[in-house]
Amino acid sequence: MNTSALEIIICMGSSCFSRGNNRNIAIIERMLGKAVARNVCKLEGHLCQNSCTRGPNISINGKVHNEVDPVTLMALLAPYAGDDAGDDQTGQRGET
Ligand code: FES
Repeated sequence: MNTSALEIIICMGSSCFSRGNNRNIAIIERMLGKAVARNVCKLEGHLCQNSCTRGPNISINGKVHNEVDPVTLMALLAPYAGDDAGDDQTGQRGET
């Protein structure tokens, strides 16, 4: 997994939350939850940053992404989600 220095900051202000970050946080947890649990991905929320009209806003490694819909978010996170996506239900990597 390419999670070195991965830091995600999601706006949890009321506008961003209601415009999509309520769903986006679930996507982040689903795609990177194991990485967050292992502390190889830092996930933080913050309050409104006064960019509501461009929301929902999410920062990934210092780059702010605006109007982040679920499809865009999944594409942004895909490079970091490899190991979690490949794990089976026991959390073990499958060997073939
Ligand atoms: S609620 Fe996210 S910038 Fe205002």
